[in-house]
Amino acid sequence: MVAASKESKFFDDRHKWNPLPHYFYNKTHNKSKNYQFSNFTRAYRSWFVPYLKTRIHSHEFRPLLSFLYTDLNCNLNCHYCYCRGKKIPGMTMQVAKDAVKWLQSVGCRVLAYMGGEPLVRKDFIIELTRYAVKNGFFVYLPTNGILMDKPFIDDIGEAGISVINLAVDAIDGYKGIPKYFNRIKPQFQYLVQQEKKYGYITFFNINITKNNVTDAKKLTEIAHSHGIGTDYHINEPPQIEYQDFDHEQDGAWITEAEYYEVDNLLDWIIQKNLEGYTMVNSVKHLRAMKLFIRHQLPAWPCMAGMYSMIIRLDGSFAPCFELYGSNEDWGNIYDGHKFDPEKLSRQKQKCSPHCLSTCNFQVSHYSSSLIYSLQWLAKHADLLTDTFW
Ligand SMILES: C[S@@+](CC[C@H](N)C(=O)[O-])C[C@H]1O[C@@H](n2cnc3c(N)ncnc32)[C@H](O)[C@@H]1O
Ligand code: SF4
Ligand code: SF4
Repeated sequence: MVAASKESKFFDDRHKWNPLPHYFYNKTHNKSKNYQFSNFTRAYRSWFVPYLKTRIHSHEFRPLLSFLYTDLNCNLNCHYCYCRGKKIPGMTMQVAKDAVKWLQSVGCRVLAYMGGEPLVRKDFIIELTRYAVKNGFFVYLPTNGILMDKPFIDDIGEAGISVINLAVDAIDGYKGIPKYFNRIKPQFQYLVQQEKKYGYITFFNINITKNNVTDAKKLTEIAHSHGIGTDYHINEPPQIEYQDFDHEQDGAWITEAEYYEVDNLLDWIIQKNLEGYTMVNSVKHLRAMKLFIRHQLPAWPCMAGMYSMIIRLDGSFAPCFELYGSNEDWGNIYDGHKFDPEKLSRQKQKCSPHCLSTCNFQVSHYSSSLIYSLQWLAKHADLLTDTFW
């Protein structure tokens, strides 16, 4: 067994402040200055200004981003996924628009769809995106891409989508991993081709499991050669019991037998990150994955229920994906929130050592200082690499 001591690399600051020349102008691709500038200004308005206000009004509840579950239904069956329903009615348009209005009233300007698969109702997503963009939101669409087609890409581009996060775990599919590159290649090519016309950012979302270590490298290279970024999850078993989740045994969870190859993959990704490949994950998060798979992760300062939150199909709230199924009353869009910072803090002492939420770890990292928040801003314009870490 390959051991990683708890204090080892998690808090290791060796890469902090590395003033190399490739710091500004990360780039092997030919993104136009206009494209970069418009992504920079959009991120400035929707992430950075609300972030400053959240810091100034620190006693108020002002989430920086919210995930909106429009549907739990999905066209696929990834074995690791416990956040999908079978034929459950989706969110109504009324609830969705009320949610946007409520988020606007609490200063939030970043709306991320979540599911299930958002594209099981494409018209719904297009209409809601138009509405949210008109109301000043930066809108982020995660999708397995299979239901995308050219008209949808043009419509969502015209609606003003900011980010399209294309989930692919492999080059070709295998049991339990139905999201694979060759299945969505035509959609991918059109998506990348139209990027500059509509100004959105595309990236791959890769879940690292016990089975896809080689594929994760290949996908990273494909993304880089097309001038798009990557975002990695580490496969996590559910934190709470989910009714109808029937893959507890074959969810491709990482075991001791895979520590060595997963470590090698993470070292390789960290190296690419430092070389200037565009990645959402901080190096700190990638390092923490090694501790996570060994069940050695220390508690970390998760900001769920404070800087981020989720809105469920019926408009009710929860702090994060992992607690989607929680029975606790966290409030809703009509009565307001019931997130209690002290209660959340106690909860996170228990849950954070067993959770490495990609989204919440980045929120915690990039909001922890002005420097990191500027780095996050610059990442949207593809101007910086992650050499701070
Ligand atoms: C729940 S899906 C919803 C959006 C879309 N259907 C998709 O697949 O991206 C969002 C992301 O959650 C991640 N995810 C799902 N189950 C996970 C698990 N058990 N551990 C880590 N990440 C997971 C996947 O990588 C997936 O891309
Ligand atoms: S990860 Fe996405 S595509 Fe896969 S089953 Fe879950 S919701 Fe569907
Ligand atoms: S640590 Fe994980 S489970 Fe706990 S509140 Fe944060 S995101 Fe949710």
